Formats: sequence, C-alpha cells, structure tokens
Amino acid sequence: MKTKLTILLIALLTLGNSYSQNTGSNSLSIEEPKVEYHKNPEGLDVPKPRFSWILNGEGRSRSQSSYQIIVASSMKLLDSQADVWDSGKVNTNHSNQIEFDGIPLVSDSKYYWKAKVWDESGNASEWSAPAHWSMGLLKFSNWKGLFIGHDVGYNKTDKYDSLYLPPARYLRKSFTLNKKIKKATAYTTALGLYELRLNGNKVGDANFLPGWTDYNERLYYQTFDITESLQDGENVIGAVIADGWYAGYIGYALLVRLDKVREFYGVNPSFMGQVHLEYQDGSSEIIASDRSWKSKEGAIREADIIMGETYDARLENSGWDGPNYDDTDWKTPKVYTYPNGQLQTHPGTLVKNTERLIPINITEPEPGTYVFDLGKNIAGIASLKVQGPKGTRVQLRFGEILKRDGNIQTENLRKARATDTYILKGGGVENWQPKFTYHGFQYVEVTGYPGKPTSDAITGLVLSSIETDASTFSASNPMNNTLFKNIKTTQSANFFEIPTDCPQRDERLGWTGDAQTYMRSATYNADVAAFMTKFLVDLDDAQRWYGAYPNFAPFPYSRPNQYAPAWMDAGIIIPYNMYKVYNDTRVLEYMYAGMEKFMQFQEDASTDYLRPGGGNNWGDWLAVNEETSHDFVGASFYGYDAKLMAEMAEALGRTEDATKYRSLFNNIKKAFAQKYILNSGNTSEDTQTTYALALYFDLYPDDLAKKGAARLAEKIKKNGFKFSTGFLGTKHVMLALSKYGYNDISYKIFQQTEYPSWGYSVENGSTSIWERWNSYTKDDAENSDINAKMNSFSHYAFGSVAEWMFQHAVGIDTEDAGYRNIIIKPAISKEMNYINGSYKSINGTVSSAWNWKGNKLIMNVEIPVNTTAKVYIPTAKISDIKEGNKSISKIPSIKILESKEKETILEIGSGAYSFSAKVVM
Ligand code: BGC
Repeated sequence: MKTKLTILLIALLTLGNSYSQNTGSNSLSIEEPKVEYHKNPEGLDVPKPRFSWILNGEGRSRSQSSYQIIVASSMKLLDSQADVWDSGKVNTNHSNQIEFDGIPLVSDSKYYWKAKVWDESGNASEWSAPAHWSMGLLKFSNWKGLFIGHDVGYNKTDKYDSLYLPPARYLRKSFTLNKKIKKATAYTTALGLYELRLNGNKVGDANFLPGWTDYNERLYYQTFDITESLQDGENVIGAVIADGWYAGYIGYALLVRLDKVREFYGVNPSFMGQVHLEYQDGSSEIIASDRSWKSKEGAIREADIIMGETYDARLENSGWDGPNYDDTDWKTPKVYTYPNGQLQTHPGTLVKNTERLIPINITEPEPGTYVFDLGKNIAGIASLKVQGPKGTRVQLRFGEILKRDGNIQTENLRKARATDTYILKGGGVENWQPKFTYHGFQYVEVTGYPGKPTSDAITGLVLSSIETDASTFSASNPMNNTLFKNIKTTQSANFFEIPTDCPQRDERLGWTGDAQTYMRSATYNADVAAFMTKFLVDLDDAQRWYGAYPNFAPFPYSRPNQYAPAWMDAGIIIPYNMYKVYNDTRVLEYMYAGMEKFMQFQEDASTDYLRPGGGNNWGDWLAVNEETSHDFVGASFYGYDAKLMAEMAEALGRTEDATKYRSLFNNIKKAFAQKYILNSGNTSEDTQTTYALALYFDLYPDDLAKKGAARLAEKIKKNGFKFSTGFLGTKHVMLALSKYGYNDISYKIFQQTEYPSWGYSVENGSTSIWERWNSYTKDDAENSDINAKMNSFSHYAFGSVAEWMFQHAVGIDTEDAGYRNIIIKPAISKEMNYINGSYKSINGTVSSAWNWKGNKLIMNVEIPVNTTAKVYIPTAKISDIKEGNKSISKIPSIKILESKEKETILEIGSGAYSFSAKVVM
C-alpha cells in the first residue's frame, strides 16, 4: 500500500514537473488578435497591415517558436483555402508588428484571418478564433460623393465681442431596397463634425467624427458595416453636421485676439459619403452624397466644441432620419469643394463614451440654481432628463471646482462659454444630450429646471479616445493610490482625439511639451499605440517649414515662430517611445525625414554644439522657487534628441546615421559639460531641474555623475523633500534619483503632502491632476480665483510621475523594444511597506509586487508567455534568495546572471514567481 502511494506520488510529481517543463502536453493559446492595433478594424488603408496577438499558456518558460497566419476573402475559405495569404510556418518568436505579405489588398473588401503558433517544444496551438478587417476606399477614384451642406446664411458679428454660433445642418437621403442585400458599407466623412444616422439610429458608437486633422493636408473618413441595419423597402441615411474644429472656435484665438478666431480651415461644414450595396444576386450599387439628398436646419441651434450646444426641441424634424417622412419642405443641399487634402482612414482611436457617472450630491446654492456633483473631474457631457411645459429653457454650465458660496467656478474657462441649453417641446419626459460639444467638469450647474430636479436629471457621460485599463497600482500609502486614480482620470480627460493640455478652458490644444513629457506615462496606463500614431501624423503635418516642430499640433493658427525647446522635441521623444514600447518601426520610418530636418534645424541654431533657448521659451514651465535658464533647457534637450536619434537610426538599420548621431551626442555632451558642469559636480545653475535633466539625459561626464546625483539628493533634502520644478524637471528628478540609487528620497517626495507636491493636491481633495502645484487650497478657496486666468484642474503634465511609478516603484521596464526582454527592477525602500502593480504590455500583462515582512522582502513577479525578464533583487547573497522554500539555483526556469554589491540579477522565463530574500537596508 505504502509503495503504491509512493509510486503514485512520484508519478504525480513527474507529471507536474513535465507540465511545467513543457514536454508538450499543454499548447499555447492565441488571444486578442489585432490588426494595426485594432480589434477587427473597418476600412484600413495601409497596403501591408500589421498583425499582433497575445499568448497564453500554463507553466513556465513558455514561448512561441513559429507562427502561421492565414488570410482569406471569406469566412468559408478561411477553413479550406488561404486565397489571400498563407504565411507558411515562420520560425520566429515575433507575435506583433508582423506585416501582411499576401496578394494586393483590394478596395472595399473584407478579409478574414486566423493564426496558429508553435511553442518552445514545437507543439502546435489551436487556430485562433477567426478575426477580420476590411479595406477602405484605396483610390481617390473610388469616391463618388459630393461635399454637401446646407446654407444657413451668415450672421456677421463683431469678431471679438460676440459669438457667431450657426445651427447644425441636417441631411437625408431615402432609398429603396428591392433585392436581398449581401453586404452594405458606408464610407463617410465631413469637413466639420458629423453624426451618421440610419433608419432612426446613430451609426456606430463614436463621437467627434471624422476627427481633427490639418484639413489642408488630409481628411479622415470612417467605414461602417451597415449590413444588419438595412431593411427591405424604404431606408433613410442621414447626417447631422456642425462646425467642429473645421469651422468653429479653436483654442485661445479669441482670448488673445488673433486675426482669426474661428473658421480656421473653412466656413461651412459639409458632409461627404457613400453607401456601397452588394446584392445577393451579384449586382451592386452606390448611393453617394449628391444633389438628390435633402437638407434643412433643425433643433440644434448652436453647436461649438468649446462654446456649447443649444437645442430647441420645438424645432425637431421628428422622424427625419427614418422612412415614411415627408421631406417636401427640405431643400436641395449646397455643394462645397474640398480641393486640397487626401482622404484617409483615421489611424487612431475615436472618442467614445467610456463611463457613466451618477451624481453623488445635489446642492442649491441659490434658489433655482442646482449644482450636481459627479464625483470626479472629467471630460465629457451631461445628459439631461426633464419634464415640463413647452418652451421652458434649461441651462447647463460646467465647473471643475466650487467657490466658497457653493457656486461653480467658471473664471478659469476664460473664453470658453461651455454652456448648453435645452428648450423643451413639452408633453412628457424629455432626454437630451449634446452631440458636438464637450466640457471639462466635475460640477454641472442647472438653472431654469421646471420644479426640483431629482438625481436622475443629470448623468455624466465621460468621453475619451482611450480606455485607461492597461495598468493597476497600489501602494501602502493610500494617498498615492488616490494620486494614481487622479492621473488616470486626467489622462482619460485629455486623450481626446489628440493629447490636449486641458479639456475645460479655451485651449484644448495638442501642446507638444505636455505630450512629450507625459508620453511614457501614457503608455503605462493605456494602449495608446494607435492614438499616438495619429498624433504623430498631426505633428508631422504641423512641422514648420524650417524644421522645428510646433508648440501644438494640429496647428491651425498662422503664426510663424511657434516653437520652443522641450516642446518641439516631442517630434523625437514621442516616436522614440512608440518604438521602445510597441516596437513600432513603421512610425519611425514615417517620421524619419521630418526628424532629420528637425535635427538639422537644431544644428543650424547651435553654436559649438550648444542649442540656445530660442523660440518661445517657457523653460521649466510652472516651476516654483528656482529658475533654470532657457539655454540650459535648449542644450540639454538637443543632447537627448541626438541620443534618441542614434537609437532610432540603429533600429531602422541606418547604421551610418546612427554613427553620425552618436558622435553628435558625444560632441554635445562635451560642450554641455564644459559650459554647465563644474569640477565639483555641481551644475553652474544649481537648480533641481538642471541636475535632473543632465543626469537623466546622460550629459554628465562619467566621473562626475555620482557627485551630481549626490548634489541633487542633498538639494532635495535641504528643501524638505519638496520640488522646485515645473513641467520639465519634475518627473526627471524622480527618474534621476532612482537611476542613481536615491530611492528613499524619491519615496519621500512621492509621499510628500506639503506644497509643492502631488500629495498636496490629494489632501486638498483633488480628483484629477492640476496644472499648478497650488491650483487650489482648502483654506484659501479664493486662490483658485487668483490664478483663474490660467488654472486648469485637469492637466496631465504633472501626472508624468506615472513613468517613475511603473518604471521604478513597481519596477517594470523593457530592455529591448517592445517588452520581450523585460526588466523587473523595483525601487525597494523602507520608506514604503508595499507596492503592487501591473502593466499590460504589447506581449501581455507584466506584474510586480513587493512587500516587507520585517527584514524579509517578498517579491511576486509574473511575466507573459514569449517573454523573459531580468529580475533585480537587492542582496548579493544568493543563498538568501528563495522561491517558496527552494533555493533559486535549483529552479530550471531561473538563471542567475550576476551577483554583485547589494544586488543579484536573475533571468526568468515566463510565468509567475514568488521570491523571498533577507535584505538589509
Ligand atoms: C498650456 C500648457 C502649455 C503651455 C505652454 C499653456 O497654455 O495649457 O500646458 O504647455 O501653455 O507654456
């Protein structure tokens, strides 16, 4: 009996062992098949779309040794005949950025695909679930539609002192289906904003279509599969169009009285589109926007992104977007031209409703003025529910904070009117939400409401181009967890078609300095690959003719000198991070000529390798108490650009360029050190920011770097573990301190609650990241009025600490491009009891957690299939490191790479690990 049990036990153990060593019993599975970063995208226009997937599998050290992709022109053929592409078995561990290489893809066609992989032992997986994509209209000659709109006249107003807000335009076309449909696709766009309607419903779930571009260069269109929404007999397709970025107010133009305050790209919005009908009998038909459509005004009386929307329900053309509607009083649309740009598919992610917020409180600071608190500071709109007499006007205004008297603060909105008005038609419950405006707010002020509103009168609809679902973070200090939540809320609020500086005031521009400083943080919190690909098109389009990248992109204003050090460098830093995080070299190719031109611009502007401050220079914008010279900022970012250019050139196989930029970097480094680094190791300017930038950008002479880091640490200590930095210095202080081992100090700053610090805003009740360190204080609510001209409560720039939180506190980074060789190097310190975090990389989720049990450090690490990681454990004594109660040297999926002073480096294969180590700190 005993021996039988032993045999059984041994058998089970061997089975367990073989399971984890993969002799082939469990194959990998393929998840999240994507094309061009999207799940089943419609209307792609790249000739060679790129495939990606994530792998799952039990056990450790699992990887892909080969893949096969099959593409077919129908679902049926996918199982029998790869008529478009069969990659064959390709021996590689690549599971993303895999280029399509089949027969040429055809306009207006749908493709089906699946993939299969072989694991490290050669075992084949099941085929992935079938996925698909479609190609859009690839040739200009495929387009048949005219740009149509509706003449609403033009009310000339005084440009600066009164607003011109024309009504939205409605367009409709009725058509009849007498034959059975096989496939129906709508290709649509607008100069302005549009919402597509079909048989009474909105088509798709995106807003702010077709997106913002430099309309002189390009216009994006959308592709909708509408097969399922058509019916026998009469169908109606329609569009509501409004000014949007094309013709409406943009940014601060009104505030600073630019020549133009609206209509930067055109005056009248227009719609263009076509429906492709493929019948089951093999015939086909195109219904394109033309003079046979009908046009009219309707209930939307005003519609402007920053000014707000006015809806008069009494003027509704009820049933206009469905069949059986009498449109005899509708007009023939006006035809417009679009002479300049190209028509392309939107490469990014579209604005969608990502969350619904129920009010947490309603107050009545004045009789009849109701203030709804939605609990957090978002970008989006309020949906209104109301019942009352016809003609009642309900007005909604929006604020990020309350004044002492309980009213909303709107001074910081500057020229953004941000007011929505709804006029009731009467006769029952009415529900309304605007289509073409959005606001940055936590509070909604409702006036004119008939009776006392209940909490369902207002619902907050969060709008964003991204889902911030790629990261989790938790620390033993709860303040830091609130900070993390606030960072995500603010990223979501500002990743709105472009990365905006803020969502509330008359600005909402793609400020490049903010975007570059936050770029890496952005990648941790969300999959921003497609979103940033789109922004890089904007940036490339907006590059100044002399080579500088502008202050913001798109760049609608006609001002020549709009560039600034650390802002224009977005043109280098953002592409670099796209490469580093997503292993995306295609975007580097796209940007390369422009980046080279920018490097030349910098070289021309430099004297002896030092780029001066030039341009509009904000230096370390919004720094407190210390000022870093603009020349220092210019010179240091030039060095950083050269360093990143060398790496990018290398990635593209441009070896000569790589050598050129490496030597440029060395020259800049030398010149920089001569001018700014003293023999003591101090910088000549001795501000926190100067140390942070020079150390992080590797501009310190090797023999002085440690001294520089020590000086930075000492300065921070002397300053009570508080910053004196602005947009540029802040995150780099954290990164530089951790780079040189001063983790304790980083954690002290991270947990600081005195001004200026992140904790200060959390303690003051923030739900978002503020523009200024002192945007608001509880004791001095008026403070927010003092800075009202420039005081946003939703500015992600200072949220750039997320980069440090993930790279250092949690300790997740990538050694190569694209997280195949991961680095797990948490900044362990006694200043924190635990940190716990995860990041969903392009290869799958990486997690890292550490906590103290007395002097024992527990580290839990998990890395996805098809990756390896170097894990840094802060002790040199290998025998003190255990997994469970096993010595790590006995575990096959762990390799000890190096053990040196206070540190052991392990290499692990995929899977979950729990280490414990005696650590003396
Ligand atoms: C924006 C900033 C931007 C800055 C340039 C501001 O108005 O809100 O975030 O970077 O201008 O100094």
